[in-house]
Amino acid sequence: MPIHADIVVLPGDGIGTEIVAATLPVLEAVARRHGHTFAFHQHDIGGVAIDRHGVPLPESTLEAARKADAVLLGAVGGPKWSDPNAKVRPEQGLLAIRKGLGLFANLRPTKPHPAALGASPIKSHLLEGVDILVVRELTGGIYFGDKTRSETDATDLCRYTVAEIERVVRSAARLARQRRGHLTSVDKANVLETSRLWRDVTNRIMREEFPEVTVEHQLVDSMAMHLLSKPRAYDVIVTENMFGDILTDEASMLAGSLGLLASASLGDGKVGIYEPIHGSAPDIAGKGIANPYATILSGALLLRHSLGLEAEAASIEAAVSAALDAKVFTADLAAPGQAVSTTQAAQAVIDRLP
Ligand code: IPM
Ligand code: MN
Repeated sequence: MPIHADIVVLPGDGIGTEIVAATLPVLEAVARRHGHTFAFHQHDIGGVAIDRHGVPLPESTLEAARKADAVLLGAVGGPKWSDPNAKVRPEQGLLAIRKGLGLFANLRPTKPHPAALGASPIKSHLLEGVDILVVRELTGGIYFGDKTRSETDATDLCRYTVAEIERVVRSAARLARQRRGHLTSVDKANVLETSRLWRDVTNRIMREEFPEVTVEHQLVDSMAMHLLSKPRAYDVIVTENMFGDILTDEASMLAGSLGLLASASLGDGKVGIYEPIHGSAPDIAGKGIANPYATILSGALLLRHSLGLEAEAASIEAAVSAALDAKVFTADLAAPGQAVSTTQAAQAVIDRLP
């Protein structure tokens, strides 16, 4: 059944504008093929919002996102706004919109594509069959705890409530049940009290509600090693906010490029934020060479999770996969002299849609 959807588009800063501009035509092409209509409503977030409105998340942007069916986001931040003493920073906009929409579960899938294995610094034989979904807690922990700063010290409070742990573990366990039935919970329970709470709550939820899903606990330091030495051993990984931030940048190296990892940030409602896991890459911004695949794949997650359009989502994923098979690579993946531009890569995806 054809649908109409209102999608808030937040290009943000740096390459954010280019990769989002490359993704919208892909979504439009999918809509046309299936008779859907997508209305895109563009708003400011991040550095560009600081310049235009004085704040990284204008009220108008948050309001629009609340009313939308879904939000597609590029990236925020850049050297222009990076003065460590600045009162407002672009990143605050991103954190505020995640929190404001209650998006506590951040899904970050990593499935190395056969054609891109050579781009990974990890040996190919370790990467075959790897299919990992990291579920990162997104609205709690040290990111959101009270902060203090004086002349001589600074503090960041890491706090988790039982309810915050329960809901993200449930999200991850449901996903594990639909996949290979294995959940790895990552913490630092040998040192941190929040981690000991995390482990206790996880064990209880898994025992009472998901007896059919196997659960394993890993300390974050050794997990950082296992992720590279035996990535095939993992199915769904659930972890707190900062550990998830760090482990997913690491996991992107399994896929060969940070430019390939999509993400979905979900809460209890239907609206979610869909964004690549990479940043605004100021060093290559404005050159038209950024890899748009992570954003295009985030668009696929948007269709799946917020709009319920599974076949359409799968068609984008298949088209990206076919473009990679054909070695349509941007500079992050290509052999010297073989790179295509951002728009050429996006067009290659459109050309391969069924
Ligand atoms: C991410 C980014 C953000 C985060 C930054 C930009 C605040 O690194 O989405 O992974 O740390 O969550
Ligand atoms: Mn990050």
